[in-house]
Amino acid sequence: MLMRIYGQRNILFSKVVLGCYTYTKGVSHLISGSASLRFSRGFDESAMLGFSSTPGDNLRSLPKSDSLRSYQVVVAATREMGIGKDGKLPWRLPSDLKFFKELTMTTSDPEKKNAVVMGRKTWESIPLEYRPLPGRLNVVLTRSESSKITTGENVVICGSISSALQLLAEVPYCFSIEKVFVIGGGQIFRETLNAPGSEAIHITEIDTSIECDTFIPAIDLSCFRLWYSSKPLVENGIRFSFATYVRVGTAATLSPLTSEVKSNGDSNSNDFDVKNLTFLPMMILERHDD
Ligand SMILES: NC(=O)c1ccc[n+]([C@@H]2O[C@H](COP(=O)([O-])OP(=O)(O)OC[C@H]3O[C@@H](n4cnc5c(N)ncnc54)[C@H](OP(=O)(O)O)[C@@H]3O)[C@@H](O)[C@H]2O)c1
Repeated sequence: MLMRIYGQRNILFSKVVLGCYTYTKGVSHLISGSASLRFSRGFDESAMLGFSSTPGDNLRSLPKSDSLRSYQVVVAATREMGIGKDGKLPWRLPSDLKFFKELTMTTSDPEKKNAVVMGRKTWESIPLEYRPLPGRLNVVLTRSESSKITTGENVVICGSISSALQLLAEVPYCFSIEKVFVIGGGQIFRETLNAPGSEAIHITEIDTSIECDTFIPAIDLSCFRLWYSSKPLVENGIRFSFATYVRVGTAATLSPLTSEVKSNGDSNSNDFDVKNLTFLPMMILERHDD
């Protein structure tokens, strides 16, 4: 039996079946073969992690930890950094949905999957028939212990961003999950976009003015540099392009899984040391070469 003690705190109600493991808050058990999954975690862990999950907390304030998984952000935003309206996407861009699916689903190792981390409202904005997003581990964040999120295979619920990133850094996910993508929405992006664990930002830059009610901060260009930008496309009268920014210069060493990217120090330069960019998805590396 694999047993791991997280602390002496009260066990609330967490349980997961991971194909081969169940985790109970505080203790994890190796089990054999079970089908459906429910995992809830992190509701009473924030103190242990030195981090409160109240609104406004930011991963910037987290102490560096070897046990948090790094991640890449995927977002579509207007020039004003608008990302949503009335709980939905305020545009219809089939090419962007295709890009999102390909980016978040593709793995270089066919034995592995990627994880997508999202807030509860973004989860609820996905039509029932399309969730969980197939072929990916769906990690849903909520602070509510009595959340009505319907769980099942490939759905994990976490009570804080740090507990999600910690979970993904642990067995079995450190082996079974190839990449972690944070996919929204506003509250989650505000805490993760420029935080130290964010190693790349894949942004669909929407160049047409569209009314939004959910906004995110600008990309911090003292930490990130443009690696790739596509030619502009137009769909449904909306002009947009795909861009990828990668973390440069400042410490991106939140975890051993985070790669630090070095540039030649010229802030306008696109002269990256490509061998340090192996964490980028192959489709992004290939796009850059096009
Ligand atoms: N353009 C894009 O790329 C994109 C991508 C995704 C979503 N969106 C849009 O963004 C909008 C939704 O964004 P939103 O800001 O309203 O909601 P959201 O970030 O998707 O979800 C917010 C919820 O997540 C939970 N949460 C937030 N921070 C947490 C933390 N630190 N720890 C644990 N749980 C946490 C809370 O759930 P509880 O209330 O259950 O505690 C909170 O109410 C929609 O319009 C959607 O279409 C746009």
